[in-house]
Amino acid sequence: MDNKLMLMIPGPTPVPEAALLAMAKHPMGHRSKEFDGIFAECTENLKWLHQTSSDVLSLTVSGTGAMEAGIINFLSAGDRVLIGTNGKFGERWAEVAEAYGLNAEIIKAEWGQPLDPEHFREKLEADKDKQIKAVILTHSETSTGVLNDLETINRHVKAHGEALIMVDAVTSLGAVNIPMDAWGIDVIASGSQKAYMIPPGLGFVAVSPKAWEAYKTAKLPRYYLDLGKYRKEAAKNTTPFTPPVNMFFGLQVTLQMMKAEGLENVFARHKRLMTTTRAAVKALGLPLFAADDAASPAITSVMPPESVDAQKVRTLMRKRFDIALADGQDHLKGKIFRIGHLGFVGDRDILAAISSLEAVLRELGHEGYTPGAGVAAAAKFLAES
Ligand SMILES: Cc1ncc(COP(=O)(O)O)c(C=O)c1O
Repeated sequence: MDNKLMLMIPGPTPVPEAALLAMAKHPMGHRSKEFDGIFAECTENLKWLHQTSSDVLSLTVSGTGAMEAGIINFLSAGDRVLIGTNGKFGERWAEVAEAYGLNAEIIKAEWGQPLDPEHFREKLEADKDKQIKAVILTHSETSTGVLNDLETINRHVKAHGEALIMVDAVTSLGAVNIPMDAWGIDVIASGSQKAYMIPPGLGFVAVSPKAWEAYKTAKLPRYYLDLGKYRKEAAKNTTPFTPPVNMFFGLQVTLQMMKAEGLENVFARHKRLMTTTRAAVKALGLPLFAADDAASPAITSVMPPESVDAQKVRTLMRKRFDIALADGQDHLKGKIFRIGHLGFVGDRDILAAISSLEAVLRELGHEGYTPGAGVAAAAKFLAES
């Protein structure tokens, strides 16, 4: 059936109708009083979402642009930085750092495993003359469905005292608690097509006062992504360059929706979606790629049964039920499939995805489970939660 596509990928995520309708309006002048008002409201609510009184800047970029802005505004070529990598997006941080000539030390874990906070502690404690300028990591590693232990790693960074902490929160901001001010996180990068519930096109960078101090001496070249420009203009409720005004119409609506739901409830919903999905997948006898204690509330990575091709699962899910699941990335392409439950996703969506998955597995000849076991496990968890 046409026009029934259900996105169960970790971005772009589904967009609520109220936001779609808001974005369907004619654009307005970005130097108008009317737009200033919308921009000001969005900025206030972005701060609420980040749990900060510092700056949250909106850029016309994807998530990677927000990450790159973090690197170039607060660091200089040759700076020693620690970068955690345990998946595709951690590796992207390393690539950006390399492109700008940082002296990056990689703290690695296997794909599917969380970063070990102890490895950060050891390096930070050994750095007596405070040469480490930043610790950089991905919070929710979308390529594997692992949630790294940001809180503990951040505690070690705080004990070091000098280094900034920069976080790719592209699939965790708005799904997991990241109290920016309370924890003292310095830079948080995120993107609109994730928990923000609007299409791709806006990137957000939150900046602490400590990072602004580093900005003063950072020497990497910057122009379009010079966050000082965005900060100066945001103080006047505007942007240095033409923003995608219609995206802000949508953002205004979705931030209001999140506020109405309440931050704690938004986090609890993502946790519930994750736990329901995992309970159902286990009941189907399929191995999960990330362990329970390191699982991302945004995404669940699943290994198909040996007799079944992951690619075929995704193809049939799309063809028969119009549900889009994500492939594995890089060496995991075709080896796992990923179920996104991020943003505008509710209990009903999980039940639909799990029952469809059961039907697809049956069609593909997988018999290692009791028919209905996935749905039963999901329904049981939902009834009890
Ligand atoms: C954790 C993470 N970081 C960075 C990105 C890159 O974002 P973009 O593709 O918007 O540049 C993504 C995209 O999925 C992501 O999931």
